[in-house]
Amino acid sequence: MYRFCWVAGSVAVIVAALAIQGSASFRKLIEDDTELFLNFLKHDVLPERYRSTEYFKNIGKTVKVQAFSFKNCGGNFAGISKLQVVPDPLKLPGNFNVSAIGYMKEGLKSPLQASLLIHKKAAGVWVKIPCIGDFGSCDYDDFCEILDMASECPDAIQKSGLGCQCPFKQGNYSIPNINMYGSFGFPTGDYNLTGTLHYQGKYVACLEIILTIAT
Ligand SMILES: *[C@@H]1O[C@H](CO)[C@@H](O)[C@H](O)[C@H]1NC(C)=O
Ligand SMILES: *[C@@H]1O[C@H](CO)[C@@H](O)[C@H](O)[C@H]1NC(C)=O
Ligand SMILES: *[C@@H]1O[C@H](CO)[C@@H](O)[C@H](O)[C@H]1NC(C)=O
Repeated sequence: MYRFCWVAGSVAVIVAALAIQGSASFRKLIEDDTELFLNFLKHDVLPERYRSTEYFKNIGKTVKVQAFSFKNCGGNFAGISKLQVVPDPLKLPGNFNVSAIGYMKEGLKSPLQASLLIHKKAAGVWVKIPCIGDFGSCDYDDFCEILDMASECPDAIQKSGLGCQCPFKQGNYSIPNINMYGSFGFPTGDYNLTGTLHYQGKYVACLEIILTIAT
């Protein structure tokens, strides 16, 4: 499969994890395991934007996921000012485009500690997807090593000057319209992906992404 990486602070954590999780080995893991959580992850869930008012009344919730969104949630050294993913909701397998503008106030190099939390919405509640192997809500001692496994770096990222591998230079980066293809079918539903990056004891960045996958 196409292992992509597009990196700007913690965006890297989130996207690469998604890419890795679409890989054949991950699908095999899901197929082999019968744990409740894995079953949950595997199952399609109707995104909240397609649910009726009745449904929200019944589960006693008012807040619902209606569109793609992102938020810088901490850290002092890197962040994102624009992040756009088209189409919304994502349809996988399929083509999608990503644009991002971000900044890095300091250069970053190995080892880059990253942690990722993935939650999926069920009956109005975010349920954490556990870390199984290297997949799911995991901590990584050195995210640079994960990036090294990526086989291709999209042109748009190379042209922006950022690149896909450590070390990363400080600067402002604008990455227009990365054309991507997700060859894997990811279970439908609403996801909350929250990634943090630490470097040499410093809290570099935190990014929260709410995204929906539909058919
Ligand atoms: C992605 O962008 C390309 C142009 O670079 C466009 O032709 C294509 O339709 C876009 N794809 C989606 C899913 O929006
Ligand atoms: C980079 O972006 C930051 C934050 O958006 C801004 O304050 C700074 O002026 C920019 N620096 C350059 C060189 O454009
Ligand atoms: C997404 O998950 C993070 C980490 O658990 C949490 O702090 C945040 O509130 C969640 N976002 C939403 C919109 O619920």
